[in-house]
Amino acid sequence: MIQSNTITKELDVYAIRQQFPALNRQVKGQPLVYFDNAATTQKPQVVIDALVDYYTNYNANVHRGIHTLAEEATAAFEASRDAARQFINAASREEIIFTRGTTEGINLVAFTWGRKNIKAGDEIIITEMEHHSNIVPWQLLCEEKGATLRVIPQLNGELLLDEYKKLLSSRTKLVSVVHVSNALGTVNPVEEIIKLAHQAGALVMIDGAQSSVHLDIDVQAMDCDFFAFSSHKVYGPTGIGVLYGKKHILEAMPPFQGGGEMIKEVSMLKTTFNDLPYKFEAGTPNIGDAVVLKAALDYVSKVGKEKIRNHEKELLAYATEQVQQIPGIRIIGSAAEKVSVLSFVIDKVHPQDIGILLDNRGIAVRTGHHCAQPLMFCFGIPGTIRASFAMYNTKEEVDKLIVGLQKALKMLL
Ligand code: ALA
Repeated sequence: MIQSNTITKELDVYAIRQQFPALNRQVKGQPLVYFDNAATTQKPQVVIDALVDYYTNYNANVHRGIHTLAEEATAAFEASRDAARQFINAASREEIIFTRGTTEGINLVAFTWGRKNIKAGDEIIITEMEHHSNIVPWQLLCEEKGATLRVIPQLNGELLLDEYKKLLSSRTKLVSVVHVSNALGTVNPVEEIIKLAHQAGALVMIDGAQSSVHLDIDVQAMDCDFFAFSSHKVYGPTGIGVLYGKKHILEAMPPFQGGGEMIKEVSMLKTTFNDLPYKFEAGTPNIGDAVVLKAALDYVSKVGKEKIRNHEKELLAYATEQVQQIPGIRIIGSAAEKVSVLSFVIDKVHPQDIGILLDNRGIAVRTGHHCAQPLMFCFGIPGTIRASFAMYNTKEEVDKLIVGLQKALKMLL
């Protein structure tokens, strides 16, 4: 059944693997097979080196000092902003706000734009496929404002666009949609969703946590109003992310947090606020990780997103085919457009038991609801087993997963 051909036409996966030191380690006496990339990716040596270099050579606060270290740190911090602008093709660097990650980006929009613009009777539309981070901030806002949250349903992991059209009205003020589902891998048709929302007079926020690593992101072509992503899903460090917003919208929004950096002038009577993007970056930022984000984005661009995508597609097709041959396994989410996420359940077996038995063989997958409980509810399941693939994974590793699943099932059933 298993025919483990070595990959790959376009990508030298074995050379790439050498650049990720974590992939050399053993887990439970076996070589690590890391299939939890939708949770976070492993880091290449260039990213690790860039962090060490920052703290070794030019650690300083940014935008505050005139000494050499402060100027070097500021230049590197702002260069990273430029790299992020380029990565998503934003029109200007003022539209790139550093955050802690996607969750903070969405919360920022809910807290500032939402508080200013959402009124009683207004409606916000999300989808059944959202991560909790694109549900809870809008629930909190709707509760506070007396607004209503509407939900686009899905079927087998695909959004029902006809139902979406019925939800849109003059009451719709915002549509906030996940670009790629973390739990299923579905790529949502965001361009169409955005066009329809704009025709109804609503703004659109895109949760790009999962898409930014797999797809070419062009926020201008997409025409979204906000787009958020996290560095750690794109082979960069945790604790840093980017919120993109169209300049005129960001300019009209009140600040998020108050403090240093986000001000122009402070008196005891009145404060005036800094220009974009600094208006939304109160306090000393996460400088080291922001600086290193550039190393990660440069790395991904150098390897080539299209090559990575083709390789991951090949892995997903191979893994899907192999997993389907195991009796009792049901794949959850069968969208036509998917990235390299394979979610499945097994009759009469709890996902967590599988997760533990796979870990005993050095194989890391995620099990559970994947912070998407409403979606799991739609499928009538408590959770799934999720294998998510990255540029450094191989078909041989997929074979190990299949053998691991077969052995686990022998033990459990
Ligand atoms: N949102 C991340 C995941 O899907 C943590 O695993």
